[in-house]
Amino acid sequence: MASGSILVTGGAGYVGTHTVVELLDAGYDVIVMDNLHNASMESIKRVEEITGKTVATYSVDLLDKDGLRDLFKKHKIYCVMHFAGLKAVGESCQKPLMYYKNNIGGTVNLLEVMKEFGVYNMIFSSSATVYGSPKYLPIDEKHPVGGCTNPYGKTKYFIEEILTDLCTAEKEWNVVLLRYFNPVGAHISGKIGEDPQGIPNNLMPYISQVAVGRLKELTVHGNDYDTPDGTGVRDYIHVVDLAQGHVAALKRLEKGCGCKVYNLGTGKGYSVIEMAKAFEKGSGKPIPYKIAGRRTGDIASCYADAKLAQEELGWTAKLDLARMCEDLWRWQSNNPTGFRKDS
Ligand code: NAD
Ligand code: UD1
Repeated sequence: MASGSILVTGGAGYVGTHTVVELLDAGYDVIVMDNLHNASMESIKRVEEITGKTVATYSVDLLDKDGLRDLFKKHKIYCVMHFAGLKAVGESCQKPLMYYKNNIGGTVNLLEVMKEFGVYNMIFSSSATVYGSPKYLPIDEKHPVGGCTNPYGKTKYFIEEILTDLCTAEKEWNVVLLRYFNPVGAHISGKIGEDPQGIPNNLMPYISQVAVGRLKELTVHGNDYDTPDGTGVRDYIHVVDLAQGHVAALKRLEKGCGCKVYNLGTGKGYSVIEMAKAFEKGSGKPIPYKIAGRRTGDIASCYADAKLAQEELGWTAKLDLARMCEDLWRWQSNNPTGFRKDS
């Protein structure tokens, strides 16, 4: 077991909160840091309610190096799980410098401070977006990377490259790059979940806000793709499975791993229409939709070959589509305006 705490950057956000719950349940000591740009302290309060444990939480920005240093002075950190970053694809196209500075500059700051304090273990939140437009399916980890079409995706690719170079140059480092497919769903308690600001860009938060009456209808972005029903196919993974994938990666890292990369997906693809139908079933609410043109930058199909994580981490996704929809609906219907009290 780790000798020291796990520092979770971005730990007040969607994937971060779910991972903090799984880490605490697995017996790890956890410290959260988040600048609360896309989160609130309410999410941490809910994590404490779920786990019955107190979580030391610091409102620190990755760009504030002295703030980071103070944190490392105060706590003995064993490993950093690095979730903090900006993630809106559209915004990244309008404000690329903001994305490069926050995601890449912030990560470099963090790595420098880790080095100062002799902490050489990191698990990084990467994305299937690094694969660009798939050359074959399912996508395994050997698939070429780098064909990203937007600055957000490029930050993930560049950070992967930085971490790989670091492991090559300095043998002390142990780094696991986790390439997430499409995280959806929420903790079974209905207390934590995804809480997008404004109108959601991603499919499942959009559908759940239609079901709860905040949005009128779903717009299906294109039904002329080369897929069984013409709508886009993705590999949706329950966020709790994803969170458990991080615990499995940490256990692997504890043995010493150099630089490793794993897909975290289910291996199954579902279309937009299949997702809307499954959510209708899970929520008992109708999801009216209209068909519109394709969204710029979208691809037809994307799903993982998740065998490597199974073989090397002993991890597979267990929760099915019905559970993703039921849990998302519990979160959305219990918290129609997310962590905020009003909309
Ligand atoms: P999120 O926005 O809910 O969480 C990210 C957190 O990082 C937020 O709480 C935000 O306040 C914080 N943050 C941002 N910049 C910061 C900074 N400079 N200093 C400190 N904190 C900062 O997003 P999420 O969905 O939980 O995603 C977590 C990570 O996983 C991100 O790196 C994201 O790019 C990656 N990822 C997410 C998805 C997805 O669909 N959710 C898919 C692939 C990869
Ligand atoms: C998107 C991002 C990707 C990011 C991922 C994180 C783009 C182009 N890609 O991926 O970089 O890593 O989120 O989760 O934004 N859809 C609709 N109507 C909607 C919303 C989505 O039909 O209102 C469709 C999309 O066309 C797609 C599918 O639903 O076929 C999934 O979309 P989304 O949830 O946005 O995820 P990705 O596009 O896979």
